[in-house]
Amino acid sequence: GKVCLAYSGGLDTSIILAWLLDEGYEVVAFMANVGQEEDFDAAKEKALKIGATKFVCVDCRNDFVTDILFPAVQCNAVYEDVYLLGTSLARPVIAKAQIDVAEQEGCFAVAHGCTGKGNDQIRFELGFYALKPDVKVIAPWRLPEFFERFAGRKDLLDFAAEKGIPVAQTKSKPWSTDENQAHISYEAGILEDPDTTPPKDMWKLTVDPMDAPNEPQDLSINFERGLPVKVSYNDHATKKDVSVTAPQDIFETVSNLARANGVGRIDIVEDRYINLKSRGCYEQAPLTVLRRAHVDLEGLTLDKEVRQLRDQFVTPTYSKLLYNGSYFSPECEYVRSMIQPSQETVNGTVRVRLYKGNVIILGRSSATENLYDPTESSMDELTGFLPTDTTGFIAIQAIRIKKYGDAKRAKGTK
Ligand code: ARG
Ligand code: SIN
Repeated sequence: GKVCLAYSGGLDTSIILAWLLDEGYEVVAFMANVGQEEDFDAAKEKALKIGATKFVCVDCRNDFVTDILFPAVQCNAVYEDVYLLGTSLARPVIAKAQIDVAEQEGCFAVAHGCTGKGNDQIRFELGFYALKPDVKVIAPWRLPEFFERFAGRKDLLDFAAEKGIPVAQTKSKPWSTDENQAHISYEAGILEDPDTTPPKDMWKLTVDPMDAPNEPQDLSINFERGLPVKVSYNDHATKKDVSVTAPQDIFETVSNLARANGVGRIDIVEDRYINLKSRGCYEQAPLTVLRRAHVDLEGLTLDKEVRQLRDQFVTPTYSKLLYNGSYFSPECEYVRSMIQPSQETVNGTVRVRLYKGNVIILGRSSATENLYDPTESSMDELTGFLPTDTTGFIAIQAIRIKKYGDAKRAKGTK
């Protein structure tokens, strides 16, 4: 039968490709373009040379932005306070494209090269089963006949030599990465010691904040119903004012400006779904800027109680579901449907400065929303209510607080 393998062009998935052929399968090599820097032609050539029947690359970038990345910005998605979910967000788009290819090519099974210890295996496989419940999944790193045979790097290299699989001459980096247009991750290898500071040359997508330009980059971001609809800035190289409005262009523009100014590096120890802790370093430039600007505009335009409910429930729940690989699930559909109704008033513009790794808010405005009324909150004017109204408000709040105080005093605690 035919198997659709998620192929990366690297050593592991090349070995898996050759191994599947040895096991008697025919293999369609699948690759998703999610905005990673990649030589797709070289990967194609390599896959076909090893023996894949066909190589299919699907450009997922637009769907990735409109279906997943922008809704994530719209609900301020974040995991454990700092991780903007870059890898997690790409998985549903890749799983869907892989299942589409598997169906088009008549494959009875899909295969991937995720390890048995991570989050990605769960994200891919739950996606596969939701989209094609009868699919067979081949996860070689969880099959004893595979992981016992390739227990060490030498076994992998011997097999590669035997199968004529070219192994990159450049000494491989002592960590593992996953890249897409939202971020790159670095994990494992020398990073496993959480107290090892990553070497300067590990970071690949962003300029070191210490080396970033002395001239700040200002930009303004327009939102409609919480979705970015326009980005404008002055291009320092050409001195021209530039505006972009297509979702993919907005995302790429913000990404380029943020990367050039050293924005979005993080380093965390996170909790994986499978209950292991893991250290990761991420560059998440575009999401850092868009999320910060979006949060800011909500301050001006979003109702206080709607915001608090959303922050208590929608944001953490949606983030956790994405992290844990439950994008394709009834509960995620339900929570996702709560994002849009919270965003009806999130209309306006945020002006942002990018400067040596920082995202600095310069100001915000909205032509349509009027929740914020400067005269109302001003200390210099009396409008809407009287100072004596507030005396009553405090008196009512104090009923319960006084009882609490009495009880404490009665027990002799203070
Ligand atoms: N720890 C991050 C996450 O679970 C990054 C995972 C990176 N994946 C990879 N195959 N290298 O989302
Ligand atoms: C892997 O284990 O394949 C990568 C890391 C992860 O999925 O969390």
